[in-house]
Amino acid sequence: MSKMDSWLKKGIQFNVKDEYYTPRILVEPILKYIKKDSIIWCPFDTEESEFVKCFKENGFKVIHSHIWNGKDFFEYEPEQYDVIISNPPFSLKLKVLDRLYKFNKPFAVILGLPILNYQEVGNFFLDKELQLLIVDKKISFDGNTASFNNSYFCYKMLPKDIVFTHLTHNNSNKNFIASDMYKNQMKNK
Ligand SMILES: C[S@@+](CC[C@H](N)C(=O)[O-])C[C@H]1O[C@@H](n2cnc3c(N)ncnc32)[C@H](O)[C@@H]1O
Repeated sequence: MSKMDSWLKKGIQFNVKDEYYTPRILVEPILKYIKKDSIIWCPFDTEESEFVKCFKENGFKVIHSHIWNGKDFFEYEPEQYDVIISNPPFSLKLKVLDRLYKFNKPFAVILGLPILNYQEVGNFFLDKELQLLIVDKKISFDGNTASFNNSYFCYKMLPKDIVFTHLTHNNSNKNFIASDMYKNQMKNK
């Protein structure tokens, strides 16, 4: 049984739209903006997350936490960390962003660019500093063609407020490389 299924069995609230796992190609663009020797907290991630694996492979110290392991982002905070990077649950995006700004640490989180079109999102950012690292492809999370762009919403991470970056492919169809978190969920289905 997968962690997600055992979580479901326990009756913990669950939103299937939040279970999208970030492929490596979308993790890599943030690497060059992480300061040397930073301790990175990935708060929506297991040890199989591509964020966790990629950052460790690149020499960073990583703290990962996930609700499946009893670490609810809204209650838990590691004692020591320098920067927060992840892909948060979409259904909780404003609640997550609100807590992130309260920590007042640099962060970079993946969110769909179309949310900038939502009135409540525009309203939320009225009094906040926001930076965007925008990839030039609509990256697929499951191999099917993606219908919108997921990019990094950042705070105190980038040298300027909007940075565009090139990716070699969109991770769909023949180019699809699944994240290990995704493969694990599929394996246990
Ligand atoms: C969009 S997925 C991304 C997973 C991983 N960060 C990645 O990018 O591959 C968000 C994850 O956050 C988890 N999650 C939902 N609510 C949470 C909470 N309150 N605290 C920690 N994790 C939570 C979901 O179960 C889901 O696996």
